[in-house]
Amino acid sequence: MSEFAAWMQDCQSRMEDVLAHWLPPAHIAPQHLHEAMRYAVLDGGKRVRPLLAFAAGEVAGADPARVRHAAAAVELIHAYSLVHDDMPAMDDDALRRGKPTVHVEFDEATALLVGDALQSLAFDILAGEPLAPDAGIQLDMVRLLAQAAGSRGMAGGQAIDLASVGRPLDLAELEFMHIHKTGALIRASVLLGAHCAPVDDATLGALDHYAKCIGLAFQVVDDVLDAEASTATLGKTAGKDAANNKPTYVSLLGVPRARELAQELRADAHAALAALPACARRLRQLADFVVERAF
Ligand code: IPE
Ligand code: IPE
Ligand code: MG
Ligand code: MG
Ligand code: MG
Repeated sequence: MSEFAAWMQDCQSRMEDVLAHWLPPAHIAPQHLHEAMRYAVLDGGKRVRPLLAFAAGEVAGADPARVRHAAAAVELIHAYSLVHDDMPAMDDDALRRGKPTVHVEFDEATALLVGDALQSLAFDILAGEPLAPDAGIQLDMVRLLAQAAGSRGMAGGQAIDLASVGRPLDLAELEFMHIHKTGALIRASVLLGAHCAPVDDATLGALDHYAKCIGLAFQVVDDVLDAEASTATLGKTAGKDAANNKPTYVSLLGVPRARELAQELRADAHAALAALPACARRLRQLADFVVERAF
């Protein structure tokens, strides 16, 4: 196993522990909801957003014991977004992370409530744990995540996605949609990790640019994998974008050009890190991972 793969595995396993700690135990009432929340979050997913928070925290010199709570908050928002994304009113998917989706395994009302409750839990953690150098910065972190998840971030991007079914978007419209539905939370992951320690504006600016590049690259690659990878590899039903008539980078540009674009965004992301110290290598490796991943 490469040194990077070992680091990833270590972060992923630490993340599992933190998430398991924060999620209410399944034997506490309301048991059904708590069981479904744990089902939605635990034991699955690449944990890319937490990995980005840890890597950005390393650049800022943050204590990983703090960063892990900010990372958990973003992962909970992400998990909520997946539960709702899979519901019949949205993408209508039956498989996620190799398991039946939450509304299939439980029911639709429970899936709605799982999303609601995961979102609340994320903000409970972000506001309640001492994470930042001072309370003002921590308040900024709470707003940052709120805005990244809201109508001018992920939820807004999802609204555009749904409104775009069957409608060919141009490149600028597609980029706008992807930057919001996926890029916003990726950017928040990087910035939240960095805010766990005092960080100068130049470093923050570089991290922000990096995050915007890989946020878009992440969804471009997601579009490519939907078209090219198998259901078994993805752990979610392949070919759904074409089946649902979604505008994607693949439908607009084709797979070869979409892959090329992801490579260009990776190069931009690397360039954004050029002036940062050697400890930014994790972010470099994560940019490579985002673009080269098979699932
Ligand atoms: C899938 O995200 C949804 C998108 C925003 C593209 P991930 O590919 O990060 O899903 P998990 O967390 O690894 O399951
Ligand atoms: C979802 O995009 C982005 C979210 C905010 C969840 P997709 O609909 O392409 O994600 P997958 O392919 O179902 O994971
Ligand atoms: Mg979707
Ligand atoms: Mg989907
Ligand atoms: Mg997709």
